[in-house]
Amino acid sequence: MKVAYIQTRPKFGEVERNVENAVSKIETLGAELVVLPELFSTGYQFKSTAEALELGENARSGYAAVRLIEAAVKTGAFIVAGIAERSGASVYNSCVLVGPKGFIGLYRKAHLFSNETVIFKKGNTPFKVFDVGVAKVGMMICFDWLFPEAARSLALQGADVICHPSNLVLPHCPAAMITRCLENRVFAITANRVGAEERIKGAALTFIGSSQVVGPNGTVFKRSGRRVESGTVDIDVTLARNKKINSRNDIIKSRRTGLYTL
Ligand code: ACM
Repeated sequence: MKVAYIQTRPKFGEVERNVENAVSKIETLGAELVVLPELFSTGYQFKSTAEALELGENARSGYAAVRLIEAAVKTGAFIVAGIAERSGASVYNSCVLVGPKGFIGLYRKAHLFSNETVIFKKGNTPFKVFDVGVAKVGMMICFDWLFPEAARSLALQGADVICHPSNLVLPHCPAAMITRCLENRVFAITANRVGAEERIKGAALTFIGSSQVVGPNGTVFKRSGRRVESGTVDIDVTLARNKKINSRNDIIKSRRTGLYTL
């Protein structure tokens, strides 16, 4: 199965431009599963909830969702992409999963990072796995990486691939995702962005790139630097279904759940 990430440099507020750039790229990749960054259509640094509501869109019928579904129909790909999701009077930092038959699933970011906590509503969608045929797909967003329960919840439900739209600013996530993959024996596709935003004076953010595809043995199959680019990798998703690391240790069955406090 050919999977891909697209590492972008969105222009804040230019939804149509950001979406069309991503759609053009998706159409060239020939991948069956494509992951785009967090908030790929809007940019990251909102000044207020009102601004996020204004730029936010419906997860099924907004401009980004419609164009991603059209791209999925055209290419046959499954696509995971981060959007500002407007739902009634609320706005979530969300990602959607769409495929050749349309909208499949939605995840609203559980662990909001820093200023996101004052802009977005906390996610209320449980971590859930979607069986799309070619793979069992789980979603988490950026800062969720620091909460191992997120990836574990997806792995316990049988996720083969964790799709991880991101807007990383701290340096540790790419390395930490190797551990998330090792401890769960899953693939992870982190799609980050590059560039910088300083829409709030004195609060400049520089995004680290380093999008990557990691496998169940911790192998980093592909990792980008800090420029706009995409990465494609052929993976065998069945590797994620073997949780044994030797004849005596199955990393799921060897857990001592009775001794843990969760
Ligand atoms: C982040 O969660 N965007 C750092």
